Amino acid sequence: MYCNIIRNSAQRTILLNMPLFYQQNINQNTRLAIWHITEPLDFFLKTIPIQQTITHPHKQLQHAAGRYLLPFLFDDFPYEEIVIASTRKPYLPDEQYHFSISHCGNFVAAIVSRNERVGIDIELPQEKIVHISTKFMHKEEFLFVRYGGDLIATTTVLWSAKEAMYKWWGLGKIDFKTMLRIEGMDAISQTLHASFQNKNIHQPLLLHYRFLQQLCLVWLHSEPL
Ligand SMILES: CC(C)(COP(=O)(O)OP(=O)(O)OC[C@H]1O[C@@H](n2cnc3c(N)ncnc32)[C@H](O)[C@@H]1OP(=O)(O)O)[C@@H](O)C(=O)NCCC(=O)NCCS
Repeated sequence: MYCNIIRNSAQRTILLNMPLFYQQNINQNTRLAIWHITEPLDFFLKTIPIQQTITHPHKQLQHAAGRYLLPFLFDDFPYEEIVIASTRKPYLPDEQYHFSISHCGNFVAAIVSRNERVGIDIELPQEKIVHISTKFMHKEEFLFVRYGGDLIATTTVLWSAKEAMYKWWGLGKIDFKTMLRIEGMDAISQTLHASFQNKNIHQPLLLHYRFLQQLCLVWLHSEPL
């Protein structure tokens, strides 16, 4: 049990003496949180009696913790109405809320919004992400790695950003290299200027990133397309 103190004068941040690792109220309608999982599966299932279709015990725990965070952020979140698209994106058919979930090790993150499309990803920086970077990074994006300081940290931010954009898009069929483009990285504001590009759409996007202890967090929220 611990507190993780993140200060942000413009946006309300809630700190609790519990495994809530990070929480940020981005605006009136959009909130995110990261939970450090220390509880057994039953803890989450007592609150969120979801059908378990997953067999791997740790994946079950991550999945249940992700669902638990949704009504944690907005207590009227109707988690029982979640359906899974053919792309595996979970969503609410009436779009009462938009949401996105990510898990990594014993951490789970969720972002929920009343009115914006959202995407979130958490990653632990590791060298193997650098080894696969040519698979997901456009050649121009290697400039950020060259001038962005720590190789593993910068590559992880870019990977995590593309995972968050993939979830924000939600419809699958994405070439990470050419359709999800990072165009600028600002270490002071911890933001990324990016765009989603396909034949019909060129959508500029602003992403936010943080390093919270060992964890890399990236999220985005935007008006519906
Ligand atoms: C879907 C994907 C982004 C999940 O990422 P991951 O690192 O495996 O896992 P994370 O923990 O970050 O995210 C998992 C959550 O993403 C969500 N998710 C899964 N598919 C999704 C989709 N198509 N759209 C939005 N969200 C999705 C789910 O909520 C899932 O958690 P849950 O099943 O417990 O609810 C990942 O499988 C992926 O990248 N797929 C694209 C494959 C690809 O084209 N890769 C090219 C790389 S070069």
